[in-house]
Amino acid sequence: MVAVAILAAGRGTRMKSDLPKVLHLVAGRSLVERVLDSCSLLDLDKQIVIIGYQGEKVKQALSHRHEVKFVEQTEQLGTGHAVQQVIPSLQDYRGDLLILNGDAPLLRPETLQKLVETHQTNNNAATLLTANLPNPQGYGRVFCNGDNLVSHIIEDRDCNLAQKQNRRVNAGIYCFNWEKLAGALPQLSTNNDQKEYYLTEVVDYLDRVMAFDAEDYRETNGINDRQQLSAAYDILQARIKDNWMKAGVTMVNPDSITIDETVELEPDVILEPQTHLRGNTKIATGSRIGPGSLIEDSIIGNNVTVAYSVVLGSRVSHNTTVGPYAHLRGDVVLGEGCRVGNFVEMKKSNIGSNTKVAHLSYIGNATLEENVNIGAGTITANYDGKNKHSTTIKEGTKTGSNSVLVAPVTIGKNVTVAAGSVVTQDVKDNALVVARSRQKEISDWHQD
Ligand code: UD1
Ligand code: CA
Repeated sequence: MVAVAILAAGRGTRMKSDLPKVLHLVAGRSLVERVLDSCSLLDLDKQIVIIGYQGEKVKQALSHRHEVKFVEQTEQLGTGHAVQQVIPSLQDYRGDLLILNGDAPLLRPETLQKLVETHQTNNNAATLLTANLPNPQGYGRVFCNGDNLVSHIIEDRDCNLAQKQNRRVNAGIYCFNWEKLAGALPQLSTNNDQKEYYLTEVVDYLDRVMAFDAEDYRETNGINDRQQLSAAYDILQARIKDNWMKAGVTMVNPDSITIDETVELEPDVILEPQTHLRGNTKIATGSRIGPGSLIEDSIIGNNVTVAYSVVLGSRVSHNTTVGPYAHLRGDVVLGEGCRVGNFVEMKKSNIGSNTKVAHLSYIGNATLEENVNIGAGTITANYDGKNKHSTTIKEGTKTGSNSVLVAPVTIGKNVTVAAGSVVTQDVKDNALVVARSRQKEISDWHQD
């Protein structure tokens, strides 16, 4: 049996923020959610989050996770004090308790699984995740007798100069035999520089305590300030990008590309520099995205190209090109073989296959059928100041440059709209519509 308790009651003073530390986001998800997700390979019997500073906010942020129970630590008297608060909730519990700092978002599920395995196969009282850091400043130092048997942990601020040389640190990630831990918790003192109850002191009362080194020391990074937050983002990004490259995605200058964890890519997608993929975005094989593009919550088909463009909440079908400099603002569906070109903005529109909107247009609340050709500068005037109205353009129709289609309006099949027209009434199939004043010419206007 394994239960987990996450320490999330601290304020995180060094973040200099109104928001509790564990709610800060890294690559779209809060620190505490990431910590919860690092348990994904374990079969957990109980999940407890210890809340305190702005506890209601933390509760709210995790309200969609119905398995999570909350325990309150009303005063933040230290990590040991925080864990003492779970004793009543685990009265009858027999098994192991994982304790995770809520500020360690880089932990991989595989590492936690190995920690628990090591703990259980060795029948330890406690097993803690450790790492040898190039710069161990700020972390508790772990001192061992012989191989990996821990004798004590000393916080950085309590270390003398010689002790500070020890680069093996406590990651704040532990697996305990709960009964033994529950026996040790009441013995904690506040005999340290901060006069707090340190969880790390239980090591002095337990036998046997084993250290387990993380494969990659960066997994153990705790977040205490904004610099560490941004470093964590970079580490997560490197992980995500490495995984996609291994899965067959080409990236040109990956350092300039950012990808949310929620994004899905197929092999032979090419990502050019300065491309940013966010949210629930999916991109199918053969597509080339970037340079300089943002795609958010969008589905992109095969062999699509998107260059210097922003695509939000939209769907783009196979063999379509978007950009340079196009903006799909949301709820746009582009059919196959379409072209949406330079300085085109679209919103809430359905565009049929092989339709071209190549230059300088605004298309909003519109349905364009197949094989429509929208001339440069065509605008759907969809807003009367109060309400939005829709425009329908049927298949095979062409609009001339600089035409304004005043919605609500329907333009039939194979219509030609003359350049510069302001179309306010529906147009029948196969018509030519000219909705502008006839050119007048006054001879000999110029006089010397
Ligand atoms: C802690 C460890 C240190 C370890 C480091 C790893 C102790 C005494 N020290 O130090 O050995 O190297 O983590 O990152 O445990 N919290 C509470 N209630 C409290 C105090 C803290 O819930 O009263 C929570 C915080 O919200 C945070 C976590 O515990 O999520 C760790 O607290 P923090 O103050 O960051 O501990 P460190 O000083 O980093
Ligand atoms: Ca910390």
